[in-house]
Amino acid sequence: MECAIQMKHVTKTFGAVTANKDVTMDIYKGEILALLGENGSGKTTLLNMIAGIYYPDEGEILVNGRPVEIRSPKDAYNLRIGMIHQHFKLVDVFTATENIALGLESREKFDLRQVKKAAQAICKKYSFDMDFDQKVYAMSVSQKQTLEIIKALYRGGGHSDSGRAHGRSDTPGDGEAL
Ligand SMILES: Nc1ncnc2c1ncn2[C@@H]1O[C@H](COP(=O)(O)OP(=O)(O)OP(=O)(O)O)[C@@H](O)[C@H]1O
Ligand SMILES: [Mg+2]
Repeated sequence: MECAIQMKHVTKTFGAVTANKDVTMDIYKGEILALLGENGSGKTTLLNMIAGIYYPDEGEILVNGRPVEIRSPKDAYNLRIGMIHQHFKLVDVFTATENIALGLESREKFDLRQVKKAAQAICKKYSFDMDFDQKVYAMSVSQKQTLEIIKALYRGGGHSDSGRAHGRSDTPGDGEAL
């Protein structure tokens, strides 16, 4: 089976704290991988390096077998990597549709009706239930989590026929891959 993401000898330190030391990990396409470890063991730091929030001090990251530089969440997004954070990155006073539209690159974000339609198609495809006109502050934790997943799928191309999407999850601990 083909590797979607590989980390090779990745080390990340914060001052005197070594969060990740010489981590090597293969994530296969279609795999759901659980990363387990006690509080402070470095799970979030490791995934943040795939998501472009942190940059490794040492080591290498490969996507689809190719070495990549993930220096920002935008780089991760361009590589179709999406992260669902433990603490949701949603705007409370915006609706589900507006949250999905936020940060979209193209003029698409100004056509909320189209964004909603494409997001509804994702819901249908993956059997999610979502009221796209609901504001985030009125949502339950699980609804917010579903919205984050839809957002990641939308940006990863899940709304197109290609069906290609990678997801990162960071909840309730840290998770991985759709
Ligand atoms: N931005 C930062 N600045 C300084 N230290 C940090 C930073 N982020 C993480 N750390 C430290 O790195 C180590 C790993 O933290 P990390 O959050 O990756 O662990 P975790 O496995 O996700 O923990 P938890 O299960 O509590 O979510 C901890 O000692 C933490 O205090
Ligand atoms: Mg964590």
